[in-house]
Amino acid sequence: MDINSRIELNNGVRMPMLGLGVFRTPAGEVARSAVRTALEYGYRMVDTARIYCNEKSVGRGLRDAHLPRESYFVTTKLWRTDFDDPRRGLEQSLERLGLDYVDLFLLHWPFKGYEQAYLVLEQLQREGLCRAIGVSNFKIHHIERLKECGAKVTPQVNQVECHPQNDEAELVNYCRQHNIVVEAYSPLGGEAQCLVNDPRIKSLADYLKVTPAQVILRWNLQRGVVVIPKSVRAERIKENSQLFHFELTQDDIDAISSINTNLRRAYDSDLIDQRPESTFPKIVEED
Ligand SMILES: NC(=O)c1ccc[n+]([C@@H]2O[C@H](COP(=O)([O-])OP(=O)(O)OC[C@H]3O[C@@H](n4cnc5c(N)ncnc54)[C@H](OP(=O)(O)O)[C@@H]3O)[C@@H](O)[C@H]2O)c1
Repeated sequence: MDINSRIELNNGVRMPMLGLGVFRTPAGEVARSAVRTALEYGYRMVDTARIYCNEKSVGRGLRDAHLPRESYFVTTKLWRTDFDDPRRGLEQSLERLGLDYVDLFLLHWPFKGYEQAYLVLEQLQREGLCRAIGVSNFKIHHIERLKECGAKVTPQVNQVECHPQNDEAELVNYCRQHNIVVEAYSPLGGEAQCLVNDPRIKSLADYLKVTPAQVILRWNLQRGVVVIPKSVRAERIKENSQLFHFELTQDDIDAISSINTNLRRAYDSDLIDQRPESTFPKIVEED
């Protein structure tokens, strides 16, 4: 495994194992330069979403790098305000990104109407507007429901919160059996930073002469789970990409896995439609 390693999705598309996340990365120069910096350090994937309100800035960062389009992989996600018309959602995301297609288009959450929205994603994929399609924050029963509702395409990816405190072992196992790649969001544990400060992770990192973040990210990579750490700081963007000069032993992996307490910080996706309107992020257009 190295920084260029890709995992093959169930439709043959090859997805990088490492990407830059840009949730809560402010639009404008911060997002643009984070993307440009990541590409300079060898990342070849960026994970954005309509609701992050930074797609235009991400597009600018991608263009700054002057790389051939086929060399990098862009993911965006359909927000609830577009679940009634996923085509409109994707076309508008493409316009903001300045792209003709995205590599991966995800339903951001199993919001009401996700079954119908997924069928439209299948059509958008046939038309070439997205090379791969998938879901995010889906539990096993949501994925099973897609089949019951006539989905022909097994989701290529399920992006879920996944880190040593929330290993999603059952879901990862199910996805492996069904040829769905699991992509870990909040792979460092999210904004709260508890995980990089965990003394068990720190002592293993010291022993291996790497950083806590590198131990945590490497743990998911060795389980076959794609990681998309977010940072706006060049030195951390670099640190989070240096994952390929060391290997965890099975004992190390087991020790990290023992931290799991099924601690999910994100909303319960079964309750997402009950989430109070006022607590959802608001869409703010970029310049
Ligand atoms: N599908 C979904 O519903 C969903 C939900 C959440 C996230 N995501 C995606 O997943 C990506 C990553 O998840 P996330 O942003 O929630 O959390 P994360 O990547 O687990 O953690 C990000 C936090 O860790 C800090 N950090 C980054 N590198 C570090 C390092 N080497 N050492 C110490 N701290 C470090 C960052 O601060 P600085 O920026 O200041 O470095 C930030 O506070 C998102 O950006 C987004 O693309 C998807």
